[in-house]
Amino acid sequence: MTLPEAFGLDGRVAVVTGAGSGIGRATARLLAQSGAAVVCADVDGASAEAAAAEIGSGGATALGAELDVSDGAAVDALVARAVEELGRLDVMANIAGIMHEAASVADTDEATLDRVLAVNLKGVFFGCQAAARVMRDQGSGSIVNMASGAIDVPTAGIVCYAIAKAGVAQLTKTLAVELAGNGVRVNAVAPGLVMTPMLARFIAGPGGDPATLQAASEQMARMTPLGRMGEPEDIAHAVLYLASDASSFLTGQIVRPNGGVSMP
Ligand SMILES: NC(=O)c1ccc[n+]([C@@H]2O[C@H](COP(=O)([O-])OP(=O)(O)OC[C@H]3O[C@@H](n4cnc5c(N)ncnc54)[C@H](O)[C@@H]3O)[C@@H](O)[C@H]2O)c1
Repeated sequence: MTLPEAFGLDGRVAVVTGAGSGIGRATARLLAQSGAAVVCADVDGASAEAAAAEIGSGGATALGAELDVSDGAAVDALVARAVEELGRLDVMANIAGIMHEAASVADTDEATLDRVLAVNLKGVFFGCQAAARVMRDQGSGSIVNMASGAIDVPTAGIVCYAIAKAGVAQLTKTLAVELAGNGVRVNAVAPGLVMTPMLARFIAGPGGDPATLQAASEQMARMTPLGRMGEPEDIAHAVLYLASDASSFLTGQIVRPNGGVSMP
């Protein structure tokens, strides 16, 4: 598939968090295929390096970096490294995230609340902050944050995850207003269900039973108007759209690749 020029990222530099697995990995790969030099960052340093090696073997420029997004100073340092080694920052894709074991509001423990907010909300906040400081001086850039369909469909048992993602949506809109005058756009993606390692662990536990996962996938596909679950590439395509000039008139928006599950 050849890309129309507006979707191309030639000469651009992208940082992708959570690039070691699932949606982040597919996004890092696609942004690189579209012409960007990509920094693949993940708390699992080996998976970040593997993503960068895979992208590099395809001929694109990629750096792997171990990064815990809940550490603001480390996020700042990673963005500074991207600018120092690759010259600029055009795309910040804040994709890293975690799920937690199902628990009602009444039964949620404080450690789980703190951990999920630290990674899924503060981690995105730190990524936005570091990118905003570079991009506002540069006078251009696109920040893409990973929200979730959980912001639209309240689901018992995932309150920590849902409130973090709702915060990401509001952070996205606020920052979009703040940076609009600097030529920087800020949008979010709220995916429906995608069978990544994160969702598989949530449904069936670590190393979960394939039959349980298959049955859950079939049930989720039946609940989806388009009749299937999402693939990581479905979400990566939405990120590419928001990262590229193809979306140059979009800011502060939540794009929902979800097969039609919710239509707010
Ligand atoms: N899979 C879905 O159905 C779905 C739906 C909606 C939203 N999302 C969101 O998409 C994003 C990617 O999820 P995925 O499904 O690809 O999961 P995944 O587990 O496959 O990938 C998440 C990646 O983030 C990394 N990570 C976790 N904590 C981190 C930290 N503190 N710092 C840096 N990296 C960290 C993990 O090591 C992993 O590589 C998440 O934000 C998730 O909430 C996923």
